[in-house]
Amino acid sequence: MPKDTTCTGQQYSASTPYKLKGFRYLMGYHSRVCKLILSKTNQPYIYIDLNCGAGYQPDYRKFGDEALGSPIIALQELNRQGIEPICHFCDANEESLEILKRTVEKLKLKCEARYWLGDNKDSLLNISQDLTSSQFQGLVYSDPNGKQDFPIREIKEVFQLSQMRRVDLLMNVATTYVKRWESNPKANWEVYSLEEIITGHGKEKIFVRKPENPSLKWTFIYATNWAKQKDLTKIQLYSVDGDIDKGILDHLFNPKSNPLPGIYEDGSVSIQGNLNFDIQNSDVLDSEE
Ligand SMILES: C[S@@+](CC[C@H](N)C(=O)[O-])C[C@H]1O[C@@H](n2cnc3c(N)ncnc32)[C@H](O)[C@@H]1O
Repeated sequence: MPKDTTCTGQQYSASTPYKLKGFRYLMGYHSRVCKLILSKTNQPYIYIDLNCGAGYQPDYRKFGDEALGSPIIALQELNRQGIEPICHFCDANEESLEILKRTVEKLKLKCEARYWLGDNKDSLLNISQDLTSSQFQGLVYSDPNGKQDFPIREIKEVFQLSQMRRVDLLMNVATTYVKRWESNPKANWEVYSLEEIITGHGKEKIFVRKPENPSLKWTFIYATNWAKQKDLTKIQLYSVDGDIDKGILDHLFNPKSNPLPGIYEDGSVSIQGNLNFDIQNSDVLDSEE
């Protein structure tokens, strides 16, 4: 898979557009649903990006992609619905946070932002001690690099707080990496099983996206306590309780014995071809709300 590294050290691969377009779509959807709730409750929207990166990646253009990363995409979609979120942007790279700060200002994005330099496990626990409202709507986004170190236990701890009950979770996961590391003695960081990453956050409803390719299997795990949350079929995000997701989970956990429909044995056909990448936002999503 072609891979490259941007000036701030973020990697770009063939999987990146799948992630970014899926993220924009999901943020557009989330913003629209939460706008309706917030108009009745007046609660603040909190957006916690655990691996925010620089937000602006001009290097992405050389791959023909948009130059924006998750924090800017999230703010654009939220502001478009008139939501001015409380943002906590976490990253271990100081330069990335500096670029992000400048980009948020330059694009005049509306939010109340705090920037957390360091390990996101510590940042998340510090953020949780600083929650100023009795109840938030919002989203926590976890998008680690190939090392796949999810702060899943800290996420679970924070979601046990009553203020965070209505805050949802999105994780971008290369499930092959997780499975590769979960029992590897050479890993020098805390590793978790794929099962813990999918189910260990404490949210009631879980959705898994059809993976982008047959080797690394990048996918989204989305989790919420909102009982009415439906599948987001436009980005192939399905509830783990349904038949479609049972097939996806079989494929993620037992890839050899259960090939995903649409992917041939030699891996030559990527399901990416089935996706409608023309969708730039979620305005066509009425049927999924
Ligand atoms: C895949 S990139 C994030 C991309 C970003 N979400 C986007 O959409 O553009 C992963 C980021 O995590 C950061 N990172 C790696 N380990 C970290 C840690 N333990 N705590 C916080 N940030 C970390 C890296 O500096 C990098 O910016």
